[in-house]
Amino acid sequence: MTKYVINGGNPLYGEVIINGAKNAAAAIIPAALMVDGTCRIENLPQISDVTTMLKILKEMGADVRIANKNTVEIDCSGVRTSRATFDMMRKIRASYYLIGALLGRFGNADVAMPGGCNFGGVRPIDQHIKGFTAMGAKVTTRSGIVSVRTDSRLRSATIFMDVVSVGATINLMLAATLAEGMTYIENAAREPHIVDLANFLNSMGADIRGAGTNVIKIRGVNRLTGGSYSIIPDQIEAGTYMVAVAGAGGRVVIKDVIPKHLECISGKLREMGVSVVELDDSIIVQRMGPLLGTHLKTMPYPGFPTDMQPQMSTILCMAEGMSIVTEGVWDNRFRYVDELAKMGGQMRVTGRTAIIEGIPQLTGAQIKASDLRAGAALVIAGLCARGITEIEGISYIERGYENMIDKLTALGAEISVVYEPDSPLMTVRNAV
Ligand code: EPU
Repeated sequence: MTKYVINGGNPLYGEVIINGAKNAAAAIIPAALMVDGTCRIENLPQISDVTTMLKILKEMGADVRIANKNTVEIDCSGVRTSRATFDMMRKIRASYYLIGALLGRFGNADVAMPGGCNFGGVRPIDQHIKGFTAMGAKVTTRSGIVSVRTDSRLRSATIFMDVVSVGATINLMLAATLAEGMTYIENAAREPHIVDLANFLNSMGADIRGAGTNVIKIRGVNRLTGGSYSIIPDQIEAGTYMVAVAGAGGRVVIKDVIPKHLECISGKLREMGVSVVELDDSIIVQRMGPLLGTHLKTMPYPGFPTDMQPQMSTILCMAEGMSIVTEGVWDNRFRYVDELAKMGGQMRVTGRTAIIEGIPQLTGAQIKASDLRAGAALVIAGLCARGITEIEGISYIERGYENMIDKLTALGAEISVVYEPDSPLMTVRNAV
């Protein structure tokens, strides 16, 4: 069985460099379908979700050239199909961005329903469908394929999102970029990667304003032209290392970040007694003494990110007193709790709320990741625990973290990976 093995208890010292944002890459790669000419995308994280998305474009006829480890050049002029129904699309959630991009390019799209991390509940796309319909498209879903049709080109609309959805905001931004007239997305999500996608599209000739606020205005243009773009640093990767240092102890300089994107995480860590110093493009995190319990509720940006909830709850298991964590975005994002319980973690979950009673230290155990951020949380638990922790399900973790093992080892952690020779993960890694 492929797993991570951690001998916990070492504090972390040194520097770690943060890669480009997974969720920005997930939107920007499909956006290349709408561009006439070559897009050079820099600072792409080398993770399996990116590899899968690039592979999907290649299967559709795109020319994908790997310029270096974190840079690709994509030319989609050879793509002749608006159909993307490959099995591998069911591996990643962001495959639904192909709908918006294909609608922009061809006015039609047939796309396999998305996969990705499963938080134990249905992950609806009703807000995406509502937006496409408002823009004049006809949407049908049959046998796991979403088909979206227009007569020729989408038309502009004013769309009010009933829930703040990152995915729907991105998908409608993509679709509206080459639509006719001015589209307004109201109650839009404001995550940094939404701004990054808008910046990417604008740098290729789009006319998008207001990204980062809750009203985004997109004036449709006739074409996008090629160019070069560098993806922003990953807020969640940075946050994960910040929390790892807070939990395991030590002092680490987290480099190549945008401190503003990390403010809510920095704020929570300070409440827990951790020192966080923000510099221009780095953050220094230092554990000063015992961790103090706190309460948090996840919310859309600029609130505390749901993608940091499992990591933060993990270190709250070792904080003094009682902490209350409320999940405000997903219905069931506490599936790692049973694994932490095997390590001694005291978390009681009722609905979307967890009550945590801090204990001095977790103890190593054999545990299994159920999704990407749960996996990251279990790695942090292993780093903090006394003794050996073995984590299965690591393909989830490698969907979103480049070189986590090397980065943690360089900081002083004792962590190794045991691969089976025919692991599917190795196959994905070697695919592009
Ligand atoms: N929702 C609806 N209808 C929709 C769309 C969403 O009701 O049409 C609900 C969802 O059920 C959820 C809430 O709205 O309760 C927020 O969902 P959102 O659409 O914002 O999530 P997403 O776009 O599917 C992205 C990230 C997730 C991250 C969420 C929230 C990508 C590829 N995924 O998902 O990232 O948790 O935004 O910030 O960008 C991760 O990186 O580990 C991850 C899961």
